[in-house]
Amino acid sequence: MEFEALKKTPVFQALSSIGKRIYQPNGIFYWSNRAKKEAKINATIGTAVGFETDIIDGGREKLLTYYLPELKQYINLPPEKFASYAPIAGIPKFRDLWEKWIIYKGKNAINLPSGTINVSGKITKPAICNGITNSIFLVSRFFLNPGEKIICPNKRWGNYNSVLHLQNELEIETFQFFKDDKLNIEGISELMLQISKVQDKIVLILNFPNNPTGYCPTKNEIQDILNSLKNFCDSSNKPVIIFCDDAYEGYSYSDHRVGTSIFYELIDLHPNLIPIKLDGASKEFLMYGGRTGAITLGINSSWLSSSEKEIFLQEWENKIQGMIRSTISNSNHFYQEVLIEIMNLGFEKMQESRNKIYEILKKRYFASINAFEKYKTEGITMDPAGGGFFVFLNIDKIQADKFADHLLLKYKVGTFPIVSEKEEINGIRVAFCSIPLEKIEETFRRIRLTLSDLS
Ligand SMILES: Cc1ncc(COP(=O)(O)O)c(C=O)c1O
Repeated sequence: MEFEALKKTPVFQALSSIGKRIYQPNGIFYWSNRAKKEAKINATIGTAVGFETDIIDGGREKLLTYYLPELKQYINLPPEKFASYAPIAGIPKFRDLWEKWIIYKGKNAINLPSGTINVSGKITKPAICNGITNSIFLVSRFFLNPGEKIICPNKRWGNYNSVLHLQNELEIETFQFFKDDKLNIEGISELMLQISKVQDKIVLILNFPNNPTGYCPTKNEIQDILNSLKNFCDSSNKPVIIFCDDAYEGYSYSDHRVGTSIFYELIDLHPNLIPIKLDGASKEFLMYGGRTGAITLGINSSWLSSSEKEIFLQEWENKIQGMIRSTISNSNHFYQEVLIEIMNLGFEKMQESRNKIYEILKKRYFASINAFEKYKTEGITMDPAGGGFFVFLNIDKIQADKFADHLLLKYKVGTFPIVSEKEEINGIRVAFCSIPLEKIEETFRRIRLTLSDLS
């Protein structure tokens, strides 16, 4: 594959050396897929295949991937839906449904500056991988070489450090997430400018609702981010790649905060802007152990003619498959099938049942805000929030590790301390998502007691 169409877009220029080099050869999956359609005897893939009657009494006279019959006690799906490998980038039906899910979320967006947004025909087919963690690993390797810089907020999910820095050898450049209790958009722009002087591309990771603060931007803030990104792109000819870590998409609790991903607004913002949506089933479908995530690129309408776009889609697919096949090979088959079943019920139905949990989390969120207000005292502040699974409490003077230790030892409340002198963070993350409503006030009372004990 020559990647002619890909080369016409800023995406190719922005790839790392791995990204430029990788491709998915016509390997075993190609031959096995062909054999499935064309062969009478299929001697391609390395899975043990035979008649179900060979392994269980009353089995079907059907060729399938052999499985341990005991599994049927636990799994209420036919074995062809869990025993065999899933295709490299996911089951086509599941990918179609995930694409529809992304389109559905855009069409039902609330509070985005452009209102609702239809991204149908403007995105690549979501490529399924092993959760958002895995997608961050894959896309950061795909776009950045070891030693290159990626922009993250100082308040970020701790695993970014392991994936981006320890694993992929990137330099994490951070901006202060908040300035005067608002999103520090100026800080992002300054860092982009600084990096553009030493690097041929700018890569930024945005995560709303945020971990660890729960922060969701307001509509105005989203508009300000968009203006500032557009201004930057107008004045620089370097590609700007934005990874939207949408782990908590949909979990915003306040009427004036945005729970839909900023990805939708980024797609046609500027030809040099490359938005990549990273979303997953862990939080969206409360299926953390399902290890299912998706990588989706937003296609700027000025990049290609419609005939070139078809080729581009195949080329993007080939490269993403190359990345997946050479690392995790393919993702969990069973959970993709389960999610197909759930999604087939219809997104409204699916949301209706998720809504019960959403409403519980929303109550806990407001209970946390109220309890914090009730017990608040000098020496502790809560970051602006609005959604997600957590709130973050900044602690003055007392080391957050020591604080969390005391809170746990004396008051039996577990929280997660985050301390980084360099990034000016000292505080505890309170996961209200895992505290029953009736225990929330008590949690904050004990936090207050800890502060009094240690002050
Ligand atoms: C911001 C953020 N991104 C990604 C993840 C991980 O998602 P996944 O379970 O899909 O790997 C988490 C989970 O805690 C998270 O907080």
